[in-house]
Amino acid sequence: MNIQQFRYGDTNLAYLLWDGIEAVAVDGGAADEIISFCGENGLNLAYVTNTHGHSDHTPGNEHLLSGTSASLISPEEMCEMKVLPLGSSRLEAFPTPGHTNDSICFYFNDGDSGCLVTGDTLFNGTVGNCYTKNYELYFSSLQKVLRFPSETKIYAGHDIFDYTTGVMDKIDPDNPFLAEYKSLYSKDHLVTALGQELKVNPFIRYNDKTLDAYRSGLGMPLKTEYERWRAMMSVH
Ligand SMILES: [Fe+2]
Repeated sequence: MNIQQFRYGDTNLAYLLWDGIEAVAVDGGAADEIISFCGENGLNLAYVTNTHGHSDHTPGNEHLLSGTSASLISPEEMCEMKVLPLGSSRLEAFPTPGHTNDSICFYFNDGDSGCLVTGDTLFNGTVGNCYTKNYELYFSSLQKVLRFPSETKIYAGHDIFDYTTGVMDKIDPDNPFLAEYKSLYSKDHLVTALGQELKVNPFIRYNDKTLDAYRSGLGMPLKTEYERWRAMMSVH
């Protein structure tokens, strides 16, 4: 499966995935660019889908659907289908509620490694806001994501790299991996890997003892994995 990233709005990232000539837009807010890209590369936009229903992720849907013969697949429908065949590849979807109730992640293989399109569930350097207020559910969703191998690439729904690395500078200033992590930033193709995130992202390193000095100042219970994560989310 191939992937092309597009930027739109202040920080949003749209994706086009394709195999052979068959393509799917995920959070395709950069609709004109996506339609042009498909035209230039002989791709047939067959499907339009989203990582969740927030309005900053769906603004391209109508334009993509009216300008092409694509069909809309909602996040709920994607999860029911589990697998969307695309060319000779597979795009898998699984529910990751927490940021919203309808949040999902997509998984595919780009021929080099596994890849996740995570929407607002996991970003470079942070996780999404828990708008559902169901922190237990969000925690279990993140554990589904963290189960993938460390080389798995992460394609997030926003580029908020400056903000998240600023938070890391504050929470974890002595992290020896932070300088290299910052040096890997590319505005043209924002990607991270699960293994990189597990070295720097304070919001998924709930078992990392180096964060305990910071966490112990929060006055929250820290006995279980969930409690350690929940404490960190209080400063999210
Ligand atoms: Fe969102």
